[in-house]
Amino acid sequence: MELTDANLLVTGGAGFVGSHLCERLAADNDVRIVDDFSNGAPSWVPDGVEAVEGDLREESVVERAVTPDLDGVFHFAADKAADRDDLSQFRLNNALTESLVGRMDDVGVTEIAFTSSSTVYGEAPMPTPEDYAPLEPISIYGASKLAEESLLSVYAHSHDFTVWNFRFANIVGPRLQLGAVIPDFIAKLREDPTSLEILGDGRQEKSYMHIEDCIAAMCHVVEHADAPVNSYNLGTRTTTSVTDIAHIVAEEMGLDPEYEFTGGDRGWTGDVPRMRLAVEKLADLGFEAERGSDEAVRACVRELLEGGVPGLDD
Ligand SMILES: NC(=O)c1ccc[n+]([C@@H]2O[C@H](COP(=O)([O-])OP(=O)(O)OC[C@H]3O[C@@H](n4cnc5c(N)ncnc54)[C@H](O)[C@@H]3O)[C@@H](O)[C@H]2O)c1
Repeated sequence: MELTDANLLVTGGAGFVGSHLCERLAADNDVRIVDDFSNGAPSWVPDGVEAVEGDLREESVVERAVTPDLDGVFHFAADKAADRDDLSQFRLNNALTESLVGRMDDVGVTEIAFTSSSTVYGEAPMPTPEDYAPLEPISIYGASKLAEESLLSVYAHSHDFTVWNFRFANIVGPRLQLGAVIPDFIAKLREDPTSLEILGDGRQEKSYMHIEDCIAAMCHVVEHADAPVNSYNLGTRTTTSVTDIAHIVAEEMGLDPEYEFTGGDRGWTGDVPRMRLAVEKLADLGFEAERGSDEAVRACVRELLEGGVPGLDD
């Protein structure tokens, strides 16, 4: 799909990733978002972008958001918390995708880019390629993403849709909200600069990708891959441990706290302790992230300290 002079919808466009994508797309395209603002902020929606406010599961909302003149949809609306332990998140995320693709099919809009997650792989060997099997997620969140991917596969193979599935590593940058490790560490250290509680043993090690690389990678893949289903890992070739993130945050804040580990090999039930995605498929398509994992983390810490942590500084 060409991302120039196109009519595009971004679901969840007022959120962290969606608002950054809107900034990128709005320069060359007509962009509309739909968001119920349950987690995003109206002020993050760039000027010139039309906003439909409401719950995407509601018929009147999806009808206003998805109109026949659209060329394509970026689908980001979701409950993204990775530590839920009940089925409501599974139902919500699937209901959002079901509502969206049903309406797209009705009005003949067939191009959809979807934000999936590394959590679909469960505890897989690293680096994990896109064709790794069996896919055995260990969290409700991962299960919801895998189920949504499978529904999109049906629309690709039986309803002529083109689908881009982006299996994200941890994406970081300006506007990253509390609930993610970097803003959480900043918040805890503001509260008590002398000690920092770290969930697990601190050796959990994951790949962090900067939002600018993530947005550039998504646009590159959408413009260059055109199979019925295009699944791509978006991540970096390196990882950062939770203890290293603590060091980087403390250093950037000019602090030297004692670390207090809660213990165990993971932060919470359903947490995948080690994650690094293979990015060869992305490289073969001609894209390489500019920052490694440590650089992405450090850039994010500086951006949050300078620009503010949402929910803490506003
Ligand atoms: N940020 C990451 O590291 C990461 C990693 C893997 C996958 N993802 C996925 O990428 C997507 C975007 O993530 P994000 O970090 O920007 O999350 P986010 O929470 O900042 O954005 C999601 C947006 O969806 C909106 N939304 C939620 N429920 C809605 C509903 N019923 N109707 C309309 N809008 C609704 C929220 O208000 C929010 O603005 C999500 O699907 C998430 O699961 C993110």
